[in-house]
Amino acid sequence: MEYNLKEIDTYAKSWIKEAGENIRASFPKTLNVTSKSNPNDLVTDIDKGTEQYFIKKIKGAFPDHRIMGEEGYGDEVTSLSGVVWIIDPIDGTMNFVHQQRNFAISIGIYIDGEGMIGLIYDVVHDELYHCIKGKGVYLNEKSIPQLTEAKVSEAILALNATWVAPNKRIDHELLIPLVKAVRGTRSYGSAAMEMVYVATGRIDAYMTPRLAPWDIAAGIIMIKELGGETTDLRGGELDMLQQSSLFVSKPGLHGDILKNYLKDGKW
Ligand code: IPD
Ligand code: CA
Ligand code: CA
Ligand code: CA
Repeated sequence: MEYNLKEIDTYAKSWIKEAGENIRASFPKTLNVTSKSNPNDLVTDIDKGTEQYFIKKIKGAFPDHRIMGEEGYGDEVTSLSGVVWIIDPIDGTMNFVHQQRNFAISIGIYIDGEGMIGLIYDVVHDELYHCIKGKGVYLNEKSIPQLTEAKVSEAILALNATWVAPNKRIDHELLIPLVKAVRGTRSYGSAAMEMVYVATGRIDAYMTPRLAPWDIAAGIIMIKELGGETTDLRGGELDMLQQSSLFVSKPGLHGDILKNYLKDGKW
């Protein structure tokens, strides 16, 4: 089946901008915050309302497209055939609630399993990171250059401090040599923002033991487009139908870290 990518892209861009405008307009209002899987796993009425906004728009314009959204208002997506919108209405909800910054809307559009359009909107700064496969990555209208290689000793690595403290998911000691070897570490609390920071070269790599498809669907399209590497922590392929670990980085650095720091991990 033929799809009109340009048309899908034009709608996606205008909807993400409008959703961002609505989020900015919500700032003076009182948020309705509740918890999901644990007391620190927050969700707000704005997360839910933003996801519902996209679903209404997408189903209105493209009734045959399917939607996978974090808050569960979309479809039960069990295959990636046809057009699938993978949406995180607010990535970085904890930042949204506590800081009203350092969060983003993330949308990856997949056609028959292939990432074709990626959009990540930094709502507070009105910065839209945007990519159509094969046509480059843009920050608003400005083209983002291809990624270049980096050395471990000069790299800034984004990772959450949770993973170098004792935790139930991974053997935390495995990451300590890497944390010591890099130039510095950062933690921004939004996977989508961390991925655009890799895409723009503000940081060199980002890794985490567990994320969902909506956290990474858009970011991996952009990083791949710029020549970066996108795998799980074992170097394996990412699957948009499952949760997995994530390791994205500049080229060269990725192989080096996998071989010298991650290969013995049980991720
Ligand atoms: C979370 C953020 C955070 C990451 C969590 C995600 P949410 O997404 O991306 O940086 O560490 O694993 O769940 O819940 O704010 O959309
Ligand atoms: Ca969440
Ligand atoms: Ca998320
Ligand atoms: Ca979210």
